[in-house]
Amino acid sequence: MYMKKKIFLNWKSYLTIEQSSTLAEQLVAVQNDIADIVVFPTAAAVSQVAKTGITCGVQATFPYESGAYTGETTLQIVQEVGAQYALVGHSERRVYTGLTDEEVNTQAKALLAAGITPVICIGENAEQYDSGKRKDILQQQLEIGCKDLDLSKIILAYEPVWAISGFGGSHTATIEEINEVHVYLKTLCGDADTPILYGGSVHEDIDQAYLDSPVIQGFLIGSAGTNFESMQKLLQRL
Ligand code: PGA
Repeated sequence: MYMKKKIFLNWKSYLTIEQSSTLAEQLVAVQNDIADIVVFPTAAAVSQVAKTGITCGVQATFPYESGAYTGETTLQIVQEVGAQYALVGHSERRVYTGLTDEEVNTQAKALLAAGITPVICIGENAEQYDSGKRKDILQQQLEIGCKDLDLSKIILAYEPVWAISGFGGSHTATIEEINEVHVYLKTLCGDADTPILYGGSVHEDIDQAYLDSPVIQGFLIGSAGTNFESMQKLLQRL
């Protein structure tokens, strides 16, 4: 059976609210049956972007209901702005805020309880990759981050930190590496049939082998996802 590819666009802090809404309107106009597009705008833009009709997620969450939590976006607000997905454990959050696998787990549980799908991001950094410990690191991130979660209700994103453009990465992992890691992660997930996305320097001219791989259920795209023409081209190639 042909599965629609998930094209998830992490707009990080690249765009203004107006630019986010305009890009969302353009993407809504080219949406088709080939792909499920979900955009993750900067927090302040989500409610406006959601009004375009595109499916939205938030880039980060706080796992509690309203209260005295200065600066946090609570689950209630995530629901209110119309987000259906949330990134959890993106490597930029892990590096810049010290987010741990245990906190990833707490956030993911709270999101599921609130009816929001967590997109749990895991990936090794360059040092871990060089030391040959990639699989151990991924197993640890998965075991702690996904402890006691219903794996059929989450999405995983494998994003090697060294491939992410925001950290200076300029090339994707090879298709052989990604296929091997995705098969490994699928094994760890058992029978749950968890969708696994790949992220890290994905762009519109990526080799067709990435788009055709049966073990890559979709892509989490950062910088290239902020450009309409690039995404239009990628969608046409699916
Ligand atoms: P990139 O980012 O596509 O710009 O490398 C991917 C991500 O951080 O999710």
